[in-house]
Amino acid sequence: MSGNPCWRRQERFGTNVKEQILRLFKEANGQFVSGEALSEALGCSRTAIWKHISELRAQGYQFEAVRRSGYRLLATPDIPYAEQVKAGLNTQRLGCETHFFETVESTQTEIHALARAGAPEGTVVIADEQVKGKGRLGRSWHSPPGSGIWMSVLLRPKLELQRCPQLTLVAAVAIVETIREQTGLPLMIKWPNDLLLNGKKVCGILTELRAESDCVDYIALGIGINVSSASFPSELADIATSLSIEQQGQAPLRTPLIKRLLEKLEELYFLYVEQGFSAIKPRWEAHALMLGKPITARRVNSATLQGIAIGIDEQGALLLRMEDGRTEHIYSADIDMG
Ligand code: BTN
Repeated sequence: MSGNPCWRRQERFGTNVKEQILRLFKEANGQFVSGEALSEALGCSRTAIWKHISELRAQGYQFEAVRRSGYRLLATPDIPYAEQVKAGLNTQRLGCETHFFETVESTQTEIHALARAGAPEGTVVIADEQVKGKGRLGRSWHSPPGSGIWMSVLLRPKLELQRCPQLTLVAAVAIVETIREQTGLPLMIKWPNDLLLNGKKVCGILTELRAESDCVDYIALGIGINVSSASFPSELADIATSLSIEQQGQAPLRTPLIKRLLEKLEELYFLYVEQGFSAIKPRWEAHALMLGKPITARRVNSATLQGIAIGIDEQGALLLRMEDGRTEHIYSADIDMG
């Protein structure tokens, strides 16, 4: 799996002018770029350039304009606009097609619609706010504006149906490794889809799929990360946290975090597709919270089990050592520790 990163492909095929303007400013590294140079590089008039810069200003980008020198990019907003996420993104597929919404019901609903309309693997939907954010097992996901990463990624792996839950674990490793690398925070994975800091949930993963017979058509991988939330509604206050709360009010910027996450997710996804789950399993286990600890697994439509979590199997199911020495494989459950 190699080739040009997707932002280089855009350069060749020239898609969105605003994306290209931002890339030129990024390359200028804080120096002035003349209107003439911009219009020559992009093949459009200086009036058109001025119009695009006005639109970028309205989105929160700050430019200094000086006669005879041109424009200088002073500040970019920390709103993960598609142009921002795609600028310099070092991936082959993930994020090459990115859609940003101020408000959506759920990024999952949007990615499902795009998938059904034939969107390519790697398509990403990001929202600043979700008003009907979805959690696992029919729960809702609190997604207020400006405070988190609410994102869905479309994958089209050639995978047997029973292996699909492994992708939740692949995503968990990508998120943990990215956040640890970017913030140093000691995130841990609680099987199957929770990422915790100091015992509270900071991130959740929702993996939904469409399949025909036992062939996967696509996977909608939903990722929710509480980045800068300062507080939570009372029903979540004891169980949820954010990166900012855990760093005494210091929140990482969302856009670079999303970019790094897409790069890491693609790296691990390709590794998984090429080498299978055995290449991911030790990395998952290295960040697993409950290995060797007593847990209670509340299964839907099945008895609740208590035992010691001893690992995961090759399919990604949780292995539970029972009191009588038997090992149970848990495929879906809510886990309580202790
Ligand atoms: C869970 O822990 O129950 C899963 C939460 C998943 C939340 C994310 S936010 C982006 C995507 N869109 C949604 O509606 N849900 C997922």
